[in-house]
Amino acid sequence: MSKLPKRYTITAALPYANGPIHIGHLAGVYIPADIYARYLRLKNRDVAFICGSDEHGVAIDIKAKKEGKTPRQIIDHFDKVIRKSFDDFGISFDNFSRTSRKIHHETASEIFTQLHEKSKFSIKETKQLYDTQAKAFLADRFVVGTCPICQNEEAYGDQCESCGSSLNATDLINPKSKLSGSLPKLKKTKHWFLPLNQYEDFIKDWILKKHKKDWKSNVYGQVKSWVDNGLQARAVTRDLDWGIPVPVQGGEGKVLYVWFDAPIGYISSTKEWAKKKNIDWKPYWKSQDTQLVHFIGKDNIVFHCIIFPIILKNAGGYILPENVPANEFLNLEGKKISTSNNWAVWLHEYLEDFADKQDVLRYTLTANAPETKDNDFTWNEFQTRNNSELVAIFGNFINRVMVLTHKYYNGKVPKGGTLNKTDQKVMNSLKTFPEKFEKEIEQFHFRAYSQELMNLARLGNKYLADQEPWKLIKKDPKRVETIINIALQIAAYLTVLSEPLLPFTANKMKSMLNVNMSWDEVATCKNILLMEGKLLKKSELLFARVEDDTIKIQLEKLKINNTLKKDFN
Ligand code: 2FM
Ligand code: ZN
Repeated sequence: MSKLPKRYTITAALPYANGPIHIGHLAGVYIPADIYARYLRLKNRDVAFICGSDEHGVAIDIKAKKEGKTPRQIIDHFDKVIRKSFDDFGISFDNFSRTSRKIHHETASEIFTQLHEKSKFSIKETKQLYDTQAKAFLADRFVVGTCPICQNEEAYGDQCESCGSSLNATDLINPKSKLSGSLPKLKKTKHWFLPLNQYEDFIKDWILKKHKKDWKSNVYGQVKSWVDNGLQARAVTRDLDWGIPVPVQGGEGKVLYVWFDAPIGYISSTKEWAKKKNIDWKPYWKSQDTQLVHFIGKDNIVFHCIIFPIILKNAGGYILPENVPANEFLNLEGKKISTSNNWAVWLHEYLEDFADKQDVLRYTLTANAPETKDNDFTWNEFQTRNNSELVAIFGNFINRVMVLTHKYYNGKVPKGGTLNKTDQKVMNSLKTFPEKFEKEIEQFHFRAYSQELMNLARLGNKYLADQEPWKLIKKDPKRVETIINIALQIAAYLTVLSEPLLPFTANKMKSMLNVNMSWDEVATCKNILLMEGKLLKKSELLFARVEDDTIKIQLEKLKINNTLKKDFN
């Protein structure tokens, strides 16, 4: 078995509190992070699984202006919506904070001040795009124009979402202000810059030399291309009135760049959690025996692999991430998920139509997760994964073994008896699964874990189908006892080992089978998990078929939403 460090700080990208959560977020960040955190807790590791709402930044300011609201109204609303979605889907954060909270303002200000006092910033007068009609400096997101790299005409001032390049607003060709639509003018202003160029060797030594093998190639590749293209100084302050005020002299009227404060949100959320638990937060960020892992989408790679680590290094005493298993993007029915076009499956809407089917979505999104390349979610695949895998294999197996145990033995685990060759083969195969799962999860191969889990259910299903105990119950009742006993052992393995991916289902199974064990108790179990004579509870159905009509309705709904482009408020 693998040797794991004792303490983990697992972070999941802080979602912007300006919209609800959709399946792309869930597939790319929150389900993989949750599987990892749940797995490590089952392995009795000390886990801090940390997240929170990202409540600053210009996107929130834009939305507020557009809707005639205050940023505060926007974030208060969406923080609630987001929290509920995560709760509903069993994302088991230890703490979910908000970057508008005092503890975060204090933490981010303190780190900024520290860096300022250590002269880690360069302060430069720059010319920045200014909207003369709206009388405001235009933060990057307020400027749109043509990407100088891929010619996408809708690139933002900070990033082109089409080619993924990080940009400065002044790089854009034909820039336009999002506030008034007018052509922005350049105007003088002053900002604090983090000279990333001074840290090329640090990034090379830390990531490019040491993590070629253990980091995902998409992540490694992006970091390498950033470094190969030469890192440039980045402004970490903005002329904006929404955010954390720049806490040093000369910073009046300016705020911290949202990407300076957001990742620090992981630290403040950890502090908040530790305070509630009355423990020290520092080991989770400052101890060498803690593994820090950031779960993010690919658009966040540069911030988590280059900028935030440079901030942490300069603040001093912090650990660096051990891994940043960023995913690619999930598309929907062949098109890019888009909030502005309302082309998305929103979690709160999913639950209106599929109450209690959280695990079906967790499974489908994991089985087809965009781990190595962009992937596509289709409602047809959702139906197939549900009907042909969860219902026909996993659910069918558990249901059969439960029903037979109740029918033949009044719900009591029958005697194992003597195993024949087939039984021994099945038991040997069963015992190989925990290690396979561990290997996949520890390498962030959650798709493979989901498929191996289904293979374990297949093993059970096939065993029952081949042995046909229902045909032997009169002729050879002893043999049937052994068959059901073995099938129940497989069911017990499935119960414990499916929890990271299917927590709702695992909970039901735990109570049905009366099982409550840690991962290692299962993995190291030399003999059997369910002792003879143990009484099982009543069986309940784990999964139900999804019919064609239901899928049709979802496809229609997508189209209608897309036409109406209804905005969330
Ligand atoms: O891309 C996003 O949605 C950002 N809100 C992610 C922030 S991650 C972290 F740094 F907080
Ligand atoms: Zn581009």
